[in-house]
Amino acid sequence: DMVADFRQTLLTWYDESGRTHLPWRIDKEPYHIWVSEIMLQQTQVETVIPYYERFLAELPRVQDLAEADEEVLLKLWSGLGYYSRIRNMQKAAQQVMADFDGQFPTTSQALQTLAGIGPYTAAAIASISFNEVVPALDGNMFRVFARLLKIDADIAQPKSRKIFYDIILPIVDPERPGDFNQAVMDLGTSLMRAKTETLADSPFARFNLSYQEGIELNFPVKSKK
Ligand code: ADE
Repeated sequence: DMVADFRQTLLTWYDESGRTHLPWRIDKEPYHIWVSEIMLQQTQVETVIPYYERFLAELPRVQDLAEADEEVLLKLWSGLGYYSRIRNMQKAAQQVMADFDGQFPTTSQALQTLAGIGPYTAAAIASISFNEVVPALDGNMFRVFARLLKIDADIAQPKSRKIFYDIILPIVDPERPGDFNQAVMDLGTSLMRAKTETLADSPFARFNLSYQEGIELNFPVKSKK
């Protein structure tokens, strides 16, 4: 079974070679995962790490964020940019306190009712914190699966999201959906980067249809708009 074989290869590779030391992979608290995912939206991993540590040292619970003074928030965010992110985060924290009794909603659908949480962030939190079987579709995941399966839907088109979602959903590991998603992120930032081709000895070469035909760099298809 190709799908079972791929999952096992991916998760074994992740356990042995993934970035399992990242601070937001130490526990699965939805508040922690959420903070990391928002920071990582427009900022590199290495930059995020010290901001993430400082933020949670200062505001360890969602209630602390909901009640924080604006100057504290701006200081914790200073240097990360895109300040709408932290403004939305405080709004979302206040929603969690007011509408969800201080507990994060547990499904990707309900998470999307919170300020600043779209389909990607909701899927990341739901899969990592609550084991929901849902693909976290970001640029890495589009590229990895476009290449593996020769998916030629144009990722610049909003309607392509559903095409990818429907193909990837049955591939997500039902036992470890959060690790599956984070493994794909790691694959997309190491063995399957935008400008590099798969090496012959990659454990993923045998799953990579575009590599086998020598057309890997044609994927993903992305029109200029
Ligand atoms: N980029 C976005 N989310 C990430 C995560 N959970 N781990 C590493 N990089 C990421």
